[in-house]
This record gives sequence, structure tokens and C-alpha cells, in this order.
Amino acid sequence: MNTKLQISGLTFSYEERNILNEMDFRVKEGEFVSLLGPSGCGKSTLLKLLTGVIKPEAGRILVDGEEIHGITEHFAYMPQNDLLFSWKTILDNVCLYARIHGGIENMRKAAAEQMESFGLKGYEHEYPSALSGGMRQRAAFLRTLLYHAEILLLDEPFGALDVITRGEMQDWLLSVREKMNRTVLLVTHDIDEAIYLPTVSWCWTGIPERLARRW
Ligand SMILES: Nc1ncnc2c1ncn2[C@@H]1O[C@H](COP(=O)(O)OP(=O)(O)O)[C@@H](O)[C@H]1O
Ligand SMILES: [Mg+2]
Repeated sequence: MNTKLQISGLTFSYEERNILNEMDFRVKEGEFVSLLGPSGCGKSTLLKLLTGVIKPEAGRILVDGEEIHGITEHFAYMPQNDLLFSWKTILDNVCLYARIHGGIENMRKAAAEQMESFGLKGYEHEYPSALSGGMRQRAAFLRTLLYHAEILLLDEPFGALDVITRGEMQDWLLSVREKMNRTVLLVTHDIDEAIYLPTVSWCWTGIPERLARRW
């Protein structure tokens, strides 16, 4: 498998405070990788660097072997909170990127095909407030998927859900994973999630020995 994403010497600080220091890793094409680290270690910062929202102090980001700068089309980013618009229906929320990506008719068709496996069938014309937390996350996830970028960046996608719903969502994600056919980088502070979901998982520093032993 080819290397899809490579991070080399990535360094970033917020003012005087260093957050990432010469970080290196590679993700192969089609891999589902989870990065595990405690709250505040810089997981969201890393994803912001990849999407180009913020700029690294040093280091390189390569996609398919080519260095990228700033905002690119390579990544679809699912932020930590679902960011559904309360005044838009689920279908309109899911098709939010249609204008910049493929046109509304194509995207509505693609969305309609996925509603069932995302557990959203029958809710297309409801507003986010009518949905459970798990359904909202699935809607946000479908929106990210329909963006059709090669690499999905999932920022603690189930972090805000209760333990039982989170477990259901993890099972669900595993069931749709094969069909997605994308390279996925998921960041989480949840050890069980990091082990359970991906084909590869990496540990950030700062995991207490007592917890690390469970691996
Ligand atoms: N805009 C910002 N300005 C200054 N510090 C920030 C900013 N955003 C995040 N931080 C700090 O950087 C550290 C890493 O944040 P973050 O990447 O959000 O961590 P994580 O996602 O792993 O919980 C945290 O200590 C956070 O307080
Ligand atoms: Mg975060």
C-alpha cells in the first residue's frame, strides 16, 4: 500500500507554548488509524494543521508524496461538536457542501442512498433538535463522507455521547467502514475506542502506565 499521508517534523506552538514537537507519522492508503492522547495534548491542533486552518511553525505535510500548504481538497474534517445548523433540515445539513462539491441534485441523490445505513431514513425533513445525539453525529458524519475527500479526519466523533450510545456508534462505524473505502485518521482520548475501531492505533505520550497496561 502507498503512503497516503505523511507528517514530517511537524512543530506548532500557541504563542510561547509548544503543542507539537517534531511529530512524524505515516498513514497508508485505505488505513483506518486512531491517534490516542489525553485531553489538551494537541489532537485537534494536529487536525487543524492538516486542514490548513492553522500553519505549522516547522515541518511538512505530504499527501501522495507531495507537500501541501494551507487549505486543500484532500481532507474532510468532522469537528468535535456536530455543527449541524438548527434551522436547516437533516437533508440540507447533510448536503451542505453540495454547492462547492458536485451540485445539489447529485449530492441529494448520494445522500438518499446512504440515509438507511446511517439510520436517518424518515428523518430527512426533520430539524436537528428532533434527533438523538447519536443520530446527529451520524448526520454530521454523512456530511463529512459526502464531501468526497480522500482522507477523513474525525475529531473525537463520539466523545459527546453517553457510553451506551457511543458503543452502538462504534459498532455502526465498523459496519460502514468497509464500504467507505477512504483513508481515515481518528483522534480520541478513549483507549477502548482507539483499540476497538482502527486497523492501526498509535499512542500519544501521556497515557498513564496503569491504563497503558490494559493494551
Ligand atoms: N486558539 C488557541 N490559543 C491558545 N491555546 C490554545 C488554542 N487552542 C488550543 N489551545 C491549547 O492547546 C492545547 C492543545 O489543544 P487541543 O489541540 O484542542 O487539544 P486536544 O484536542 O488534544 O484536547 C490545549 O492546552 C489548549 O488549551
Ligand atoms: Mg480536541
